Amino acid sequence: MKFVAFNGSPAGKNSATGRILTAFLAGTARAGAKTEQYHLTDYHIKQCQGCFACWFQSPGKCTIDDDMEQLLQAYLSADIVCFGSPVYSWNMTALLKNFVDRLIPLKSPLLTEKAGHFDMADGKKRQQQYVAIANCGFPGENNFSIIQAAFSCCNPCLEIYRNCGKLLTSKQPAVQEIVADYLSQVEQAGYEMATNGFVSDNTKKQLAMDLMTTEDYIKFLGM
Ligand SMILES: Cc1cc2nc3c(=O)[nH]c(=O)nc-3n(C[C@H](O)[C@H](O)[C@H](O)COP(=O)(O)O)c2cc1C
Repeated sequence: MKFVAFNGSPAGKNSATGRILTAFLAGTARAGAKTEQYHLTDYHIKQCQGCFACWFQSPGKCTIDDDMEQLLQAYLSADIVCFGSPVYSWNMTALLKNFVDRLIPLKSPLLTEKAGHFDMADGKKRQQQYVAIANCGFPGENNFSIIQAAFSCCNPCLEIYRNCGKLLTSKQPAVQEIVADYLSQVEQAGYEMATNGFVSDNTKKQLAMDLMTTEDYIKFLGM
């Protein structure tokens, strides 16, 4: 089984998103899965031009010559694709959205409908599953509502939403201890996902726990 993660944070490998993805992939690797992580900020990905040449002229192939060809191969090699993004302006980052737009060569000009939900059919039949991971800077859950709605389009088998995300990259030893505990739960989620194909309710509960009170977090931010 292979897990391939795409990190949409502009902060790349130093990001909170990267830390969560890395812990998750480490858990899947502990269970024997192959893993790859791509920090999208390290790649040259132009914007989709909406020409649909990838459907009508060269099916499955985009006319733009950039790093997307390599990333598409990585994407296709995955049994489970992990999308990771910080919340930027209530949504996924432009970096991840741009990447997702450029996946359109994998679709075909064939409309599908399931219970009133319309989509384009895959160009070639694929059995991939999806994991959605996001972190945001504020406390509370409301900042995830838009990104959650966007991710619901791929019907993820697991979603991890981490608020108070600034804690994840803190250099304060006391905070790092809290974060290490949290990341060990993320690692466990990866292990369970690769072992059983799902994450237990208990681990999900641990993942959803507050890392500190809102009052303490606001003090931590110095706001
Ligand atoms: C341009 C920009 C927009 C942001 N918008 C939001 C937002 O709408 N809601 C929120 O909770 N945090 C927001 N944040 C904070 C980030 O989500 C937060 O800093 C996160 O931990 C960064 O994750 P990363 O290290 O993976 O990039 C924003 C940050 C930036 C730079």
